[in-house]
Amino acid sequence: MLLSMQGISKAFSGVSALRSASLEIDGGEVMALVGQNGAGKSTLIKILTGAYQRDEGTIIFEGREISFASPAESQASGIATIYQEINLAPQRSVAENIYLSREPRIFGFLDRRAMREGAAAVLKTFNLDIDVDMPVAHFSAATRQMIAIARAVTQKARLVIMDEPTSSLDEKEVGILFETIRTFQKNGVAVLFIGHRLDELYAICDRVTIMRDGQTVAKSPMRDMPKIELVRNMLGKELAAFEGMAREAGSDNTRPVRLSVENAGSGVRVRDVSLTVREGEISGLAGLLGSGRTETARIIFGVDRLEHGLIKVDGKKRTYSEPADAIADGIGLVSEDRKIDGIVPEMSIRENMTLALLPKLKKAGIVDRARQQQIVDRYIKALGVKCASPDQPIKELSGGNQQKVLLARWLCTDPRILIIDEPTRGIDIGAKAEILKLLRRLADDGLSVLMISSELEELLAAADTVTVLSDGRSVATLPKSELSETALMTAMAHQVN
Ligand SMILES: Nc1ncnc2c1ncn2[C@@H]1O[C@H](COP(=O)(O)OP(=O)(O)OP(=O)(O)O)[C@@H](O)[C@H]1O
Ligand SMILES: [Mg+2]
Repeated sequence: MLLSMQGISKAFSGVSALRSASLEIDGGEVMALVGQNGAGKSTLIKILTGAYQRDEGTIIFEGREISFASPAESQASGIATIYQEINLAPQRSVAENIYLSREPRIFGFLDRRAMREGAAAVLKTFNLDIDVDMPVAHFSAATRQMIAIARAVTQKARLVIMDEPTSSLDEKEVGILFETIRTFQKNGVAVLFIGHRLDELYAICDRVTIMRDGQTVAKSPMRDMPKIELVRNMLGKELAAFEGMAREAGSDNTRPVRLSVENAGSGVRVRDVSLTVREGEISGLAGLLGSGRTETARIIFGVDRLEHGLIKVDGKKRTYSEPADAIADGIGLVSEDRKIDGIVPEMSIRENMTLALLPKLKKAGIVDRARQQQIVDRYIKALGVKCASPDQPIKELSGGNQQKVLLARWLCTDPRILIIDEPTRGIDIGAKAEILKLLRRLADDGLSVLMISSELEELLAAADTVTVLSDGRSVATLPKSELSETALMTAMAHQVN
C-alpha cells in the first residue's frame, strides 16, 4: 500500500471537520474521494500534505510513518498537489510557476533557458502552445488549471492529488487530463481524484472513498458501487430528484420579454448573438468553452463594450458603460470565475454576502445592521450554507459553501434579471438540486434568469428554453419541447443555421 491514513481527526476552533477519517491508496491506482460540500475532503488532503496539522491519527506513506510540517516537505517526498483554490503565483511567468521552488540551476544560477524550454515541452503534451514568459494572470481559468497540472507532472511524484481538477476545463481539456492520469497509472503513480461529476469519476477512477460529515463512510471498487448507491452514501438519505423543476410547458410566449439581445457583437469572441429572456423564465445559454457565452454576459452587464447590435431591457434600448449602471437597472451577474473575482477571503460571510447590497443597506452612510443580519440569516438558511456563524471569515468555508455565499450575494440584491455563469460549479449534487429549485422559485416570483451552463443535465432540468452559441454566434434556440441531450449536443457541435 502506498498511503494509509487512519483515525484522522481535526477541529477548527472547536468545530470538528474530521472525525476519525481514513483513506488508503495503492500504487498506480486512481482513487476517487467524494462527499458533499463541507464533508472534509480538502481538509483531509491538506493534512496529508502538511498544509494543516492533524489533531489525531497516523499517516503511513511508502511504508514510513510521516508527518509533514509543510506542503514543501510533502512535495519533496513525492506528493504533488493541485489544490481546489488554484495556487499559482499570478504575477510570475508560466515557466516560473511550473518550476516554482524547484528551478533548474547551472553553477548555482537560475537556468532560465532550461526552465523555458522544459515548461514549453510539458505544456505541449497538453496541446497548450502558450508564451511561457507571460504572467499566469494573463490566462483563463482553464489554462491556469492546465498549468497547475503541468507543474504536478514535472514533479515526478508517487502520488498526485487533484482537488476538483476539471471544474474549469471543457470536454476536450478533460480528455487531455484523463490521458495524463492514465499515463500516471501506467507508470505506477497513484492519483487521488476529488470531484463532484459522477460521470467523470466512473470514467477514470478504480476505487472510491466516500466521506460524510467528516467521516469515511464507504470504500469500494468503482464498478461495485452503482451511482445511486454512491449518492445515497454521500447524502445519507435518498436523492432528492431533479425532476419536475422546469415548467412542463416551458417558455410561455405570452409573457413579456424582459431582456433581448439582437445581433450583438464585440471583438472576435462575440460575433452575432441574439437571445431573449422573458419575465419569470429561466433561459439557458449553452455552448462549448470558448463559444462566447461568458463574453456575451459581460457585454450585457456593461463590462465589455457592445460594438454592434442592440440590447433592450423591457423593450427599451440600453447600453451600460459600466456594471454599476446595469446593477442600478436591476441586473445581477454571478460570474464564472468566483474564486478569482468573487470572494474577499479575509472578510466575513456576512460582509461577502452583502457586498453588492451595501449601497442599498446604507441610510445616511450607516449600514442598517439589523436588516443586514436578517437578509444574511435568510440566505444562509435558503442555500444551506454550512458555517459556524455569519461572522466567520469566508476563507474558512469549504469551496462549495463559498460558492453558495457568492450566489446569495446577487440573489439578495433582488434583481429583475439575473445572469448566472455556471451556477452549480463545484457544488455537490444535493446542493445543486437545491440551487436549481431556488432559481425556479425566484423565476416563479417573476425573476428572469439567463443561465450559462456546461452541464446538459442542468439545462434539461431547469431551463424553459435554451439558446446555443457556437463560435460567437447563436446557432439555435430550443424551446422546452425540443430540448434533449442530443439536440443540445448537435447544436453545440455544429452550426445548424
Ligand atoms: N481553515 C479553516 N478554518 C475553519 N474551518 C475550516 C477551515 N477549513 C475547513 N474548515 C471547515 O471544515 C469543514 C470541511 O471543509 P472541507 O474544505 O474539507 O470540505 P470539502 O469536502 O472539501 O467541501 P467542498 O466540496 O465544498 O470543497 C467545513 O465545515 C469547513 O467550514
Ligand atoms: Mg474542497
